[in-house]
Amino acid sequence: MLRYVTTNAGKVREAREYLDGVEQLNYDYTEVQASDLAPIAARGAREAYRYAGEPVLVDDAGLFVEGFEGFPGPYSSYVEETLGIDAVQRLVATEIDAPRRASFQCVLAYCDGDDFAASPDPVDRADRSAAAAAGAAAVDEDGNGDAAADAAADADALPVKLFRGSVRGRIVEPRGEGGFGYDPIFEHDGTTFAEMTADEKNAVSHRGRAFAKFAEWFEDRAP
Ligand code: IMP
Repeated sequence: MLRYVTTNAGKVREAREYLDGVEQLNYDYTEVQASDLAPIAARGAREAYRYAGEPVLVDDAGLFVEGFEGFPGPYSSYVEETLGIDAVQRLVATEIDAPRRASFQCVLAYCDGDDFAASPDPVDRADRSAAAAAGAAAVDEDGNGDAAADAAADADALPVKLFRGSVRGRIVEPRGEGGFGYDPIFEHDGTTFAEMTADEKNAVSHRGRAFAKFAEWFEDRAP
């Protein structure tokens, strides 16, 4: 059975629109520090797979404000908990001129312990460990300056398949009662995500787009 790894019930509701019978795994994986969502999701998927012992799907998402060079991005969760979305909106309104563009981005990371056939979608094999062992330049995954440690930590890395989705919009004063997180301050085509029904949001959202790609691929993968 496929386990969707999240502590967020809002994400589970959206995932069910794409995947029949997906079960929530309420597991809080370690979020490494990184400027991109992909390594965070990939490591989370490996950790969750080792924990659950069955196929897992990890979802890492964030709000990227253009005028703030992508902030809060991978730190969206921390910023929501500390500043709150109203303060984020006020900060954007004060510091950035209209139209105050932003995007939501989502990376889905799938791991079932097996390898994947070659395909256009990215696969994080963490084969940086092999590169490091061979003396080639290793990749500093979490940007802390210690690439060798990152490579060593992933020495037993499992292949992870990645699916990305994004949606562009702008930051506005909060409107709407639906959704979760930053939805009330994110407007797409004149409507905030919190003003949309679940179906309307799924049809255009970062998560919906990533899930559409994943669901199509997973149909062939499932036994
Ligand atoms: P995470 O992917 O669960 O770590 O979420 C990161 C942050 O982005 C949290 O503050 C979420 O509330 C927020 N977030 C993720 N997806 C959405 C979304 O679809 N709408 C609004 N906020 C979101």
